[in-house]
Amino acid sequence: MSVGLISVTSPLKAATAPQSGPIRYDSAARTFRMDAGDVTYILGVAEDGDLQTLYWGKRLRIQDPSPAPRTEGGSGFELPIDVTPHEFVGWGGGLYVVPNLKVSFPDGNRDLVLHYLSHTIRENTLTIKVKDIERDVVVDLIYEMDPATGVLARSARIENRTKEAFTIEEAFAATWNLPSSSDYQLRYLTGRWASEFNLQEQALHPGKVVLESRRGSTGDEVNPWFAIERGAQPDQDTGDVWFGALAWSGSWQINVEQNAANRVRVTGGFTPFDFAYSLKPGQSLDTPKFYGGYSDGGIGGASRLLHRFELDAVVPQSPNRKLRPVLYNSWEATGFDVNEAGQEALAEKAASIGVERFVMDDGWFGKRKDDHAGLGDWYVNPQKFPNGLKPLIDKVHTLGMDFGLWVEPEMVNPDSDLYRAHPDWVLNFPGRPRTEGRNQLVLNLARPDVRAYVYGFLDKLLTENDVAFLKWDYNRNWSEPGWPAAPLEQQKQVYVEAVRNLYNILAELRAKHPKVEIESCSGGGARVDLGVLRYTDEVWPSDNTDPFDRLRIQNGFSYAYAPGVMMAWVTDSPNWMNNRSTSLEYRFLSSMQGGLGIGANLNKWTPEEFATAKTMIAQYKRVRSTVQEGALYRLISPENGSEHSVTESLSKDGREATLFAFLHSSQLGESYPRIYPRGLDEAGEYSIRALDGQLDSRIPQHASGDYWMHHGIEISLRGDFQAMLFTLEKVEAK
Ligand code: GLA
Repeated sequence: MSVGLISVTSPLKAATAPQSGPIRYDSAARTFRMDAGDVTYILGVAEDGDLQTLYWGKRLRIQDPSPAPRTEGGSGFELPIDVTPHEFVGWGGGLYVVPNLKVSFPDGNRDLVLHYLSHTIRENTLTIKVKDIERDVVVDLIYEMDPATGVLARSARIENRTKEAFTIEEAFAATWNLPSSSDYQLRYLTGRWASEFNLQEQALHPGKVVLESRRGSTGDEVNPWFAIERGAQPDQDTGDVWFGALAWSGSWQINVEQNAANRVRVTGGFTPFDFAYSLKPGQSLDTPKFYGGYSDGGIGGASRLLHRFELDAVVPQSPNRKLRPVLYNSWEATGFDVNEAGQEALAEKAASIGVERFVMDDGWFGKRKDDHAGLGDWYVNPQKFPNGLKPLIDKVHTLGMDFGLWVEPEMVNPDSDLYRAHPDWVLNFPGRPRTEGRNQLVLNLARPDVRAYVYGFLDKLLTENDVAFLKWDYNRNWSEPGWPAAPLEQQKQVYVEAVRNLYNILAELRAKHPKVEIESCSGGGARVDLGVLRYTDEVWPSDNTDPFDRLRIQNGFSYAYAPGVMMAWVTDSPNWMNNRSTSLEYRFLSSMQGGLGIGANLNKWTPEEFATAKTMIAQYKRVRSTVQEGALYRLISPENGSEHSVTESLSKDGREATLFAFLHSSQLGESYPRIYPRGLDEAGEYSIRALDGQLDSRIPQHASGDYWMHHGIEISLRGDFQAMLFTLEKVEAK
């Protein structure tokens, strides 16, 4: 047991123990207060034992008065229970808002009223036990506050201490409560294949906005992230913003409810759609974590805080993760047509321009020649690689790069040895059609044999081959989500168990092969969330590699996810997506705003293109720690048909700002809008330098942070699909 553990079994016995961490319990007022970063969160136990949110926002002074729990009036049509800001509420009494937990008992009772039982505080983690007023249904509410950012992770463990099984019909991790206000703005991200991360912004009104995936996976239709700003601030960097993200890669739901009195509650967890979880005596169910944060630095500040949290507290090896290497990927160059000689030739060319990781995409295994066959048969295709993968991997190593491989472990083509041997391994309802997507079916990872198979072939692949990186793909969503082999009352648990097994496999593989890095890909960005990011080092946001479209996709992505986890490739022009032609420099600059990859067919490049690529990659390596680890400022938005867009990344030490500016097309002779960098040291002296593109001769070579931030920078980009990269570097005081 660690030092500093306070265990209180009854509120009456609660003592004010020495409190040094970010969590304080006031036993007289029965309130819990958490302070970290620039955030304070206060909750309290009401007289009847109900847990209420009392404050969430800007950090308060320790001597500031603490609000007290209270029960409000309501009416015969709206009982007090419906207007109380509950931390976690059971469906019981007269509750009409979204409950956190809804249970069906075997005797027909469905009423559940959860009251405070006890709590423990251990360093940054507060666990509050609540229990039904009559039955032994106990829920641990777990709060873990990140000391640096104040991002709070909340989850619930639901435990059956009764003598009979009961069914959980709805289980949400937590509710975030915001006080009454009539000018809240909601942001969220929607999309589809090749058009992910569309930013939606709308005023909140009384009613309910449901963000959801029923797809078995995170999905790209909506991403499990939200932000709510008080007042529609015209700029990115002022205003109060509350945000949240659900760490779950299965079906999920986030409900944003605003009541008629303008109070807001945001409740997130498993989607109740087609959900049922049977809990036997002694068993428990853990919800996903629902993270929440607050920034008074506007939506820009909220994104930066979340980025920092992701890089320092979520992704594997945080906070000391490695920078993303420059990679080459074969997909757009060779498609399924991979073989030893062809890949070696590409590898040689990739190495010559400074690529650090060579990744062979789809096509290397089973009888894979297109997307109709082979998924599930994870042996090296003997026609394409008669000597196995070793010669190619050795060659890649000789060229000074590490080697990566594409896999899609959770899927099977009906035309595969695996499916012929185990047709019962896929999600299905017996006797019903099995809907194919991209000619494939979804393996039921909830099954222990499927889990063992998937772990087994991946472990073997990584043991037998010197592989440094897996691109882990997932190219369809679920259909007919049956699990006929499970007892009837457990069949819907497939939604939970399949995702848990995915996480378990990832965790076990990482533990056994600690040098292997993993990218989460799902036909693009359909599996990007804080759950999968605990086990993967980077994500692929979109199959759309058009460098202009990417500006908007990457902009949306950046609202929730750090540029340091985002991969972006330079591919061929004209691009397949829109048949748009752009210069190689433009394509590079678009992709250099995250982890840089090259996905072009190098066999077709001219010597000039190789020379350009070599220069651009060298420049990228100069600025990549700032881009991947720095603070992102979205200076000019590419949204709403904007002709211009500018991002700035400020290095962690504040000494270097890297700015990317893009122009769609000059019109009517209008000049490029002035650029106002942010976050610089006002009194510090910064010199300006163009890494790609020409700086206007009227721009001074150096000036104060104040000058650059307030006078601004006039650049003279003109033409169509133009871009430039420049830096501001702090000059040492003499
Ligand atoms: C998905 C991925 C692509 C590529 C193909 C291979 O669509 O998003 O990048 O790997 O699969 O089949």
